[in-house]
Amino acid sequence: MQAGAVLTLTRPDDWHLHLRDGAVLRSVVRDSARQFARAIIMPNLKPPVVSTADALAYRGRILAALRENGVPEDTFEPLMTLYLTDRTPPDEIRRAKDSGLVHGVKLYPAGATTHSDAGVTDLLGHCRSTLAVMQDCGMPLLVHGEVTDPKVDLFDREAVFIDRVMRPLRSAFPALKVVFEHLTTADGVAYVRQADGPIAATITAHHLLYNRNALFKGGLRPHWYCLPVLKREHHRQALVEAATSGDARFFLGTDSAPHPRGAKEQDCGCAGCYTASHAMALYATAFEAAGRLDRLEAFASLNGPAFYGLKPNAGTLTLERVQEQIPLALPLAESQVVPLAAGESIAWRIRASGQA
Ligand code: NCD
Ligand code: ZN
Repeated sequence: MQAGAVLTLTRPDDWHLHLRDGAVLRSVVRDSARQFARAIIMPNLKPPVVSTADALAYRGRILAALRENGVPEDTFEPLMTLYLTDRTPPDEIRRAKDSGLVHGVKLYPAGATTHSDAGVTDLLGHCRSTLAVMQDCGMPLLVHGEVTDPKVDLFDREAVFIDRVMRPLRSAFPALKVVFEHLTTADGVAYVRQADGPIAATITAHHLLYNRNALFKGGLRPHWYCLPVLKREHHRQALVEAATSGDARFFLGTDSAPHPRGAKEQDCGCAGCYTASHAMALYATAFEAAGRLDRLEAFASLNGPAFYGLKPNAGTLTLERVQEQIPLALPLAESQVVPLAAGESIAWRIRASGQA
C-alpha cells in the first residue's frame, strides 16, 4: 500500500486485555480506549476477581480511570470476567450472568502464568457443577490453554493441553462456549478449525508478527517474553493463515499485559508484552504482510461480537499508512513500560476513532 493510504474499519474490540488496577490502570487505559470500543478485561489481579461483586467494583475503578483520563463516557466499555477457582460456586455464575456486565469466566491452570496461583488445579475434578451452569446459561469459558506439568517442554504445553484438558472438557460439556485464548500453535489452529460446537480463539498481534527468534535476537530480550511463549515460524504462519482466512472462529485479543520495566529486566522477568499502545497498527502490519488487509475488519470488529452475542460497534476507526517509531518506553505509574518492538518503525498509525 502507498504511504498515506487510509483504512477505515468498524470500530474494533479487544477480546483479551490486562488493564491491572490503581495507578497502572490509570496509565494504560487510554491506549486501549483510543482504538477499541470494548475489551474483555482479564481478572488476574492480586487478589483475583473471583466474584460478581469484585468484578462490578473493578468495573467501577476502570470507569473512574477513564474519567480521570478525560475519555468521554460511552467511548469504551469494559466487559468484565471472573477468575475461575477450584471453589467457584455455581450460584456465582448465575449472579454474574444476571448482572449483565460479566461476559466470561477465565480458566488459569494453577501456575500457568502471571498471577495464576489461585487458578484451577483439576478442572473436571473440581469445577463440574460450575461448568454445567455456565453451559446452561451461555457463559463463555475463556481458557489459558497450557498444561503446567513441569515434565512437558514449555514449547509443547499448548499442544499437550488440547489432548489432556480441552478434548475431555468439550466432550463433557459440548454446548459450553469456549474461547481458546491467545492461540500460539499450528496444533491449536487445527484443533479449533475442526472442532464441533461453540468454540473460538483469540490471536495476539505479537504471535502474528514474531517467532521465537525474537526472544534471542542479539541477546536475551525480556520484552518479547510472554506466555504462551512465542513459537517456531511454522506456527506463526499457521496463525496468520487462520487470522486472515475469514473463518469467524478467529478474532482479535491483544493480551496486552503491562509490567513495569524493572519487573521484566531482572533475573526472573515477568511474562507479558505491552501492545495496547500500537495494537491496531501491529495487526494492520501483520495483515498487510499477508496481503489480506481486506480481512482485518472481520477479525478485529465482527467475529468477536458475533461469538459473544453482541452487536458490532456503530463507530469507525481509521488507520493511515505513515511510518512512525514505537517509543522506547511509556510512562507506567511511577515507572515505565517498554512496549513491544520499542524503537522499531511501524507503517500504520491511528488517524481517527469515533462513535457513530
Ligand atoms: C499475562 C499477564 O501478565 O497478566 N502475561 C502474559 O504473558 N500473557 C497473563 C496471561 O495472559 O498469561
Ligand atoms: Zn492474558
